[in-house]
Amino acid sequence: MQQLLRSVVAQLFLQLLLVTAILGEDHYMRADFPADFVFGSGTSASQYEGAAFEDGRTPSIWDTFAHSGRTNGANGDVACDGYHKYKDDIGLMVDTGLEAFRFSISWSRLIPNGRGPINEKGLQYYNDLINELITHGIQPHFTLTHIDTPQALEDEDGGWLSREIVKDFLEFANVCFREFGDRVLHWTTINEANVASLGGYDEGAIAPAHCSRRPFCAKGDSTTEPYTVVHNMLLAHSAAAKLYKEKYKATQNGEVGINIYTLGIVPYSNSTEDVIAAQRARDFYFGWVINPLVFGDYPDTVKKRVQTRIPAFTEHESKQIKGSFDFIGSNHYTTVYVKDDPNTKRDIKDFYADMAVELIFGQSTGAPAEGYNVVPWGLKELLEYLKQAYGNPPIYIQENGQMTRRNATLNDTSRMEYLQAYIGSVLDAVRNGSNTKGYFVWTFLDCLELLSGYEKSFGLYYVDLDDEELKRYQKLSARWYSNFLKGKSSRLNAITQVKENVSLSL
Ligand SMILES: *[C@@H]1O[C@H](CO)[C@@H](O)[C@H](O)[C@H]1NC(C)=O
Ligand SMILES: *[C@@H]1O[C@H](CO)[C@@H](O)[C@H](O)[C@H]1NC(C)=O
Ligand SMILES: *[C@@H]1O[C@H](CO)[C@@H](O)[C@H](O)[C@H]1NC(C)=O
Ligand SMILES: *[C@@H]1O[C@H](CO)[C@@H](O)[C@H](O)[C@H]1NC(C)=O
Ligand SMILES: *[C@@H]1O[C@H](CO)[C@@H](O)[C@H](O)[C@H]1NC(C)=O
Repeated sequence: MQQLLRSVVAQLFLQLLLVTAILGEDHYMRADFPADFVFGSGTSASQYEGAAFEDGRTPSIWDTFAHSGRTNGANGDVACDGYHKYKDDIGLMVDTGLEAFRFSISWSRLIPNGRGPINEKGLQYYNDLINELITHGIQPHFTLTHIDTPQALEDEDGGWLSREIVKDFLEFANVCFREFGDRVLHWTTINEANVASLGGYDEGAIAPAHCSRRPFCAKGDSTTEPYTVVHNMLLAHSAAAKLYKEKYKATQNGEVGINIYTLGIVPYSNSTEDVIAAQRARDFYFGWVINPLVFGDYPDTVKKRVQTRIPAFTEHESKQIKGSFDFIGSNHYTTVYVKDDPNTKRDIKDFYADMAVELIFGQSTGAPAEGYNVVPWGLKELLEYLKQAYGNPPIYIQENGQMTRRNATLNDTSRMEYLQAYIGSVLDAVRNGSNTKGYFVWTFLDCLELLSGYEKSFGLYYVDLDDEELKRYQKLSARWYSNFLKGKSSRLNAITQVKENVSLSL
């Protein structure tokens, strides 16, 4: 009898644990995160600002790419017109309860030739934007470059392919630290260093459209250029971080980091080959950028496979790069299976052939047809990996969000569920000791998407492109995020009421 009772009690206890575990993922509040953890949302200059030819701005490599017809005819000439509408947008940020706003500066607006004289009107715009944020208690998180190097530098020296850019980037960073650093405390040097390089110099899918495939790309060499570009980015980043530390940190007390694109990576099977392949994929995608920052050199796997096509650091460079970050910024959207692929059929010996894996974007339930897999636990596992592999560095999740077809549906239930689940996954990682310090929804507004123009969107707010005023409309996801930020429970059943409050007519 006692035996039976004990087993019933034990079972009840187990069930209780199970229920708690389930609720644990779904039911959390802002207050469950550390008080200094920051929640925000973001955009980037070429996707948001527009005013591409106004007040002295010159083209960036992105403008050139977009005008070459490679983005479904979409370009950033007007975008969301943030250059003129930032005050109203900051009003929406206040309504939403954002604690921080992540944006990037247009280098060619501030310094039109890439180097040399400052454009006073550009300087004024960023000062106004920063002041408006600060006045409303919203932290500015500032990215220096987001795939939009000045076209002038591209034409003169070859942009990121040239060592010259290290000097130019350092001077550009110096101007930003000097002019804005009294108010900006969070600096990201380069957005998605790994993907900017792979997209721009291996696949030719984004600016400046270099690759080995002709005539798809007019120029480029996918076998070497991606490695040269990341090498120069690491040198430029570490030079800027060193400058900040030596010249500004003591008085401004801010932090400097770099951003990479991350995927959740899961071995396709438990075979030794796939498990090793998964680690190789982590080394190629993340270690390529993070290993030099943490250990002073590229991962051995990468060096062995790429050999002389990847530049070597001098002892001096290695010393400068090692430790040159206060945080790692991670953009994260989805998780993939990784399968060993030793005899890869790629005709070009590029990054992907070197990595020798097959990436399988599996099918999960709940993924919108035009989106990608929704795998919230993949983010927790990624954060767990970064913690264990790199000594628990401070991390900001600088982009996370759901892509859908862009349309007038404000009832974006799936985006709301995506955010709710992914933020819950971040909380799980934080509770297990991850030093993650912030989370930013990509993106605040439906503006220009770099790969899909205006056809797809990630925004918390819809922007009516047919309206001359580009009027903004709040989506259900914004309402949910706002409630969460204002201290309400994230639990989805509380969301029924939120849904009723969203107006569906424009
Ligand atoms: C691999 O092994 C783990 C732990 O034993 C198991 O949970 C997982 O389902 C296995 N994965 C595959 C693809 O077989
Ligand atoms: C809008 O997009 C969603 C998600 O892609 C889709 O389910 C819905 O049918 C679309 N609505 C309209 C009016 O196009
Ligand atoms: C919003 O979308 C959800 C799921 O797609 C649906 O169940 C709900 O009825 C919609 N709400 C309104 C008000 O249309
Ligand atoms: C929690 O962190 C510990 C220590 O880093 C680690 O060993 C463990 O695997 C983590 N647990 C989970 C569920 O990720
Ligand atoms: C819905 O709107 C009502 C009236 O404006 C407001 O009192 C209530 O707090 C809102 N509920 C949610 C969950 O936003």
